[in-house]
Amino acid sequence: NSMTAEYKVHGSIAVITMSNPPVNGLGLATRQGIVDGLQRANADAAVKAIVITGAGGAFSGGADIKEFGTDKSMQEPNLHSVINAVENSGKPVVAAIHTVCMGGGLELALGCHYRVGAPGCQVALPEVKLGILPGAGGTQRLPRVVGVEAALNMIVSGEPVKSEMIGAVPGQKLFDKMAASPEALAEEALAFAASIADVRPLPLVRNLPCKHPEGDAYFQFARNMVKGMAKNFPAPAKCVDAVEAATKRKFADGLAYERELFINLMWTPESRALRHLFFAERAASKIPDVPSDTPKRDIQKVGVIGAGTMGGGISMNFLNAGIPVTILETKQEALDRGVATIKKNYEAQVKKGKLKEDKYAQRMALLSTTLSYDDLKDCDLIIEAVFEEMGVKEAVFKQLDAVAKPGAILASNTSTLDVDKIAAFTKRPQDVVGMHFFSPANVMKLLEVVRGKETAKDVLATVMAVAKKIKKTAVVSGVCDGFIGNRMIERYSQQAGFLLDEGCTPQQVDKAIEKFGFAMGPFRMGDLAGNDIGWAIRKRRAVEQPDMKYSKTADLLCEMGRFGQKTGAGWYDYQAGKRDAIPSDVVNKMIEEHRKTLSVAPRKVSDEEIVQRLVFALVNEGAKILEEGIASKSGDIDMVYLTGYGFPIHRGGPMHYASEVGLFNVVLAMNRFAQNPMDDASAWAPAPLLVKLAAEGKAFQ
Ligand code: 3HC
Ligand code: NAI
Repeated sequence: NSMTAEYKVHGSIAVITMSNPPVNGLGLATRQGIVDGLQRANADAAVKAIVITGAGGAFSGGADIKEFGTDKSMQEPNLHSVINAVENSGKPVVAAIHTVCMGGGLELALGCHYRVGAPGCQVALPEVKLGILPGAGGTQRLPRVVGVEAALNMIVSGEPVKSEMIGAVPGQKLFDKMAASPEALAEEALAFAASIADVRPLPLVRNLPCKHPEGDAYFQFARNMVKGMAKNFPAPAKCVDAVEAATKRKFADGLAYERELFINLMWTPESRALRHLFFAERAASKIPDVPSDTPKRDIQKVGVIGAGTMGGGISMNFLNAGIPVTILETKQEALDRGVATIKKNYEAQVKKGKLKEDKYAQRMALLSTTLSYDDLKDCDLIIEAVFEEMGVKEAVFKQLDAVAKPGAILASNTSTLDVDKIAAFTKRPQDVVGMHFFSPANVMKLLEVVRGKETAKDVLATVMAVAKKIKKTAVVSGVCDGFIGNRMIERYSQQAGFLLDEGCTPQQVDKAIEKFGFAMGPFRMGDLAGNDIGWAIRKRRAVEQPDMKYSKTADLLCEMGRFGQKTGAGWYDYQAGKRDAIPSDVVNKMIEEHRKTLSVAPRKVSDEEIVQRLVFALVNEGAKILEEGIASKSGDIDMVYLTGYGFPIHRGGPMHYASEVGLFNVVLAMNRFAQNPMDDASAWAPAPLLVKLAAEGKAFQ
């Protein structure tokens, strides 16, 4: 028996069980195990048919993504050779499919002569989500069994389809038989294999016809759809090409074409970015010194202090997950206002058909409000979202310390204050943690979990699990001003301001970075979030860090009362009730005047320089954050930016992008920017970690 595929004989049926936890990824050893099993079965005269299945919670999650970009993924037997060995087996091969059957796992199943499915199993070709396409025949075989349109939908979306949905469409034959239940699968697959053991010739999917009655029109339509949806990604359009080839070329030619597209996509930066994202997302939930088996505290009831912008959104997350919430405020009016906003948000979803009436009612039934701390006595987790003032936080945490039950987790949503100081207001600093949600808290995926000096490991483990339950991407940050995300964005904003001083308009800066792929440039973003927030922070900083260099334009803008969309004017002009950013003559004039006071002759700044200065400013601060241990891995920083700040997904996050550019080149650019007298040379002193990695020719890991 191979380590990763077991071989057993039951009567006249050989069973090959892929066994490569967690999802039976088709790594080299598993592929070898399957081929060995097939040879053994074919050599054994007592064996009449072969069943391939998967151990544990998956048939197979597909190719082993960890092998991508290494020699192992191509090493023989590669997935093609495995599928050839299945097709060429002299004895029938039956795939017994349950739970998860994805990517290369589905391609393997499609190479089998027969397929028996367990109800509820999820079938998908998710390769597109990794920036590639199915590379082991999926684009050629799936259309032959489920039809061209259904197959293309699955391949372009990558979304899983439940087995019963596939079986329900007439004429489709992905499954030759469905087992009565998942538990019955093994037994029924054996019986099915015995029943077809002598049938010849052996059926092969490759021999089925593949046609679309109006192919040209359909593929043209599909191409247009895909172009609109996936503008930054090459893979979806290639999926259309590959499936079209299935309808127009001989099977072997289509297969070769698919292979060529697959290999080309594998080497694109977009695919590298998506693969990085796949692993970074999963790695983010793992904390180096908090083992995965750390016991977690039970979270049944949640308290939220403050029913403002954040408190309301935070509460909704828990209500959506079926967890009861009690909100506490100082005044009944504030509670009423908060609850009304929650209702308004839900009602908008009901109106759009995104939420059913009964679900809405269920959620509201989980919500209670109070003016008294006594009502938080039995809460397992209490999240504070009151005004951003240390004095107010102190009063709240002292009260929480007095009433919360032992073991309750006390969390603060503070965005700038020191979590260790907040923890010190209590006699249980080990139970205090930061949970920094992003606005709107019911929508944004990111949650920065701020780990205080004394935060207990089981508190962290619990909060990470809670985050998963409320569908957030949680990233752990140490305590520092701004944590990971806002500390970095400050450097980015600083550069955006200098660019104005040197000759750019806000719209030029926004356009350049939006072309790079950001959802919104810094000035449109400022107008949306409110320019007064940064203004207040800068006023505070002026006392704490008087030497910090800034463009004064942002302060001048606020002095004009232009706080952004909420005041109808910011870096841009806005028409009543509309969000379109209209370039503002008044603002451009203000910027010009300011340049005069600085005696600066405006220069033409290239889009490339704009992008590099904004992005590398993030990278340098990110490197410092890593060095200081505020973030434990560079992927965490990327996750913060991808899920909380609109960093373009196809670039993989600031740290991954820097590695793609080459850290040596990044350091060179920083040294160049430091020469600019208008800039802040100290900000461009490259972080020692960056210098070290660049010198070693390494990337962020
Ligand atoms: N290869 C290697 N590891 C994989 C993997 C794969 N294909 N799929 C999942 N894993 C690992 C994850 O990294 C994670 O590892 P960890 O515990 O060490 O962090 C573990 O399996 C569990 O994954 P999830 O946390 O995602 O668990 P879920 O239960 O939520 O989801 C899943 C399971 C639906 C299988 C999901 O992991 C998934 O969608 N995986 C990706 C599947 C995929 O993209 N397959 C296509 C691969 S490309 C291919 O097949 C190429 C071929 O066409 C030639
Ligand atoms: P907000 O002003 O909208 O809401 C604060 C609420 O707290 C008000 O309803 C107020 O009545 C209530 N409150 C004040 N003192 C209280 C007390 N002692 N007891 C109970 N309730 C009290 O403020 P917002 O924007 O919701 O911010 C709350 C916290 O979240 C702050 O710490 C802020 O820094 C943080 N935060 C804000 C983000 C944002 O984008 N608005 C993003 C992330 C964090």
